[in-house]
Amino acid sequence: MSDESTEVGLPVDRNRLPERFENPGLPEHHARLTDTDPAAEKRAARIITGLFGLSALGTIGALVAYFAVPPGETVASIRLSTLLIGLGLAVAFGAAGIAAIHWSKALMNDHEKVEYRHPQASDRATREEAVAMLKEGAEDTNLSRRGALKGAMISALALAPLGFAVPLIGSVGGDWNVSKFRHTMWKQGLRLTHDPSGEPIKASDVTVGSAVHVIPDGLSEVEDVLEEKAKAVVLLIRMDPRDLKEADDRKDWSYQGIVAYSKICTHVGCPVALYEQQTHHLLCPCHQSTFDIADGAKVVFGPADRPLPQLPITVDDEGYLVAQSDFHEPIGPSFWERLK
Ligand code: FES
Repeated sequence: MSDESTEVGLPVDRNRLPERFENPGLPEHHARLTDTDPAAEKRAARIITGLFGLSALGTIGALVAYFAVPPGETVASIRLSTLLIGLGLAVAFGAAGIAAIHWSKALMNDHEKVEYRHPQASDRATREEAVAMLKEGAEDTNLSRRGALKGAMISALALAPLGFAVPLIGSVGGDWNVSKFRHTMWKQGLRLTHDPSGEPIKASDVTVGSAVHVIPDGLSEVEDVLEEKAKAVVLLIRMDPRDLKEADDRKDWSYQGIVAYSKICTHVGCPVALYEQQTHHLLCPCHQSTFDIADGAKVVFGPADRPLPQLPITVDDEGYLVAQSDFHEPIGPSFWERLK
């Protein structure tokens, strides 16, 4: 054990410890460049100050992006808004983290200390030592000497929570009227079309075993396209009619083995889209809820507690698939069901 090292903790009778290997002791302490060269120390302090300043700018940038580039009606505008806010937050937290690491490695005291293992319960003397160490660590930061660094760090840390708090506060006044989830734009006679092309779907074109992503006809013309699409998306699946187990009151909801179910998981609303043709199981990738499409989309595994809502379908005079009505019950998490 090096004589210069500081031993912290309870005294240990080392003669009573089994000697299983030779104690290699601490390696020789090497002074860093910032310990011996005042210019290098100042340079490190400038870099750290700059990084905290960059962190503050990142938070300000995220706030500016939140207000100046709000998400619009299009997917592209939502992506742009999310990207800019994310970039701002990444710079804010990344720069603050790098600054803290560089500070501890380049400027704080790096003398080796040894602490022997000791009983879990701390006695009074140990607690007093811990307090003394904390005080020593606080003094090591030399914050009283580095005014600019202190100011930059405090600014960065004070601004950082705003990157989360402002969007949260902004959402308080948002539209929380959940009753709108009770109905979608599906109605009697509305054609089922391919997502995203909007091409109508002929029943004769849907082959056994296929799964088709579906949106309602005319979706692109409604006012809240994204909101309506999020509620009305459907997965259309064709299977051998002999594999279908249909309740008596639902026998006319399918067409020659073609069934349509809401894609919105009844757990917490992720889109379910992983269809396993052999088992007729539909898997939600978020928490692995699994629905049996051959048996009324009943839950066979996972946290969802009710089947996917079914869209009753038929064909029109030209053989195109059309809805018979809206979904037979509210789509999405079971929470909506309680608002009936
Ligand atoms: S959202 Fe589908 S399982 Fe959780």
